[in-house]
Amino acid sequence: MLDLLRKRRSVRRYRDEEIKPEVVELLKEAALRSPTSRNFRPWRFVFVTDREKLAALSRAKESGSSFLAGARLGVVVCADEEESDVWIEDCSIASIILQLAGLSLGLGSCWIQIRLRMHADSVTSEEYVRSVLGLPENIRVESMIAFGCPDEDLEPVPATELQREKILSS
Ligand SMILES: Cc1cc2nc3c(=O)[nH]c(=O)nc-3n(C[C@H](O)[C@H](O)[C@H](O)COP(=O)(O)O)c2cc1C
Repeated sequence: MLDLLRKRRSVRRYRDEEIKPEVVELLKEAALRSPTSRNFRPWRFVFVTDREKLAALSRAKESGSSFLAGARLGVVVCADEEESDVWIEDCSIASIILQLAGLSLGLGSCWIQIRLRMHADSVTSEEYVRSVLGLPENIRVESMIAFGCPDEDLEPVPATELQREKILSS
């Protein structure tokens, strides 16, 4: 796990190469194995491989989401907010589990923030994503995780750049 964490970077450029269905299955399993508060499992995951839908979702925000159009998989991480008061935490944990599982399977990925972001002046990114996917209003959208075979080789963050001062003394 530490080796993976040392390599981990957000990858936004992907080769035009299919992600094998068995790899997508492993990602589904990883997501569903995420821990949740009181084991309520309020999340829902929408696995999107359709290129037109990925292109539509890539327009969820004015910036910071366009690279989803070049991804071969997008996982929309959402939850029924009535099922848990800490659905945001649960969705965030599932999002990073998905990213780390993807990394272990050779995929590059990047988180796209949806909750609290805007699609246009009076349309939130959540409303936009719900409309593209036909999701009901009680489903809240935390993030979309873009996946693909990496087409960029980002340097790991050197150990010397870690902000050791963020570890407060006890
Ligand atoms: C909560 C969260 C939201 C993020 N939202 C976006 C986003 O909307 N678009 C994007 O391109 N990157 C997004 N990122 C990726 C960050 O920009 C990235 O993790 C950060 O710049 C550090 O780079 P690294 O992941 O390569 O170490 C997000 C990451 C997190 C954890």
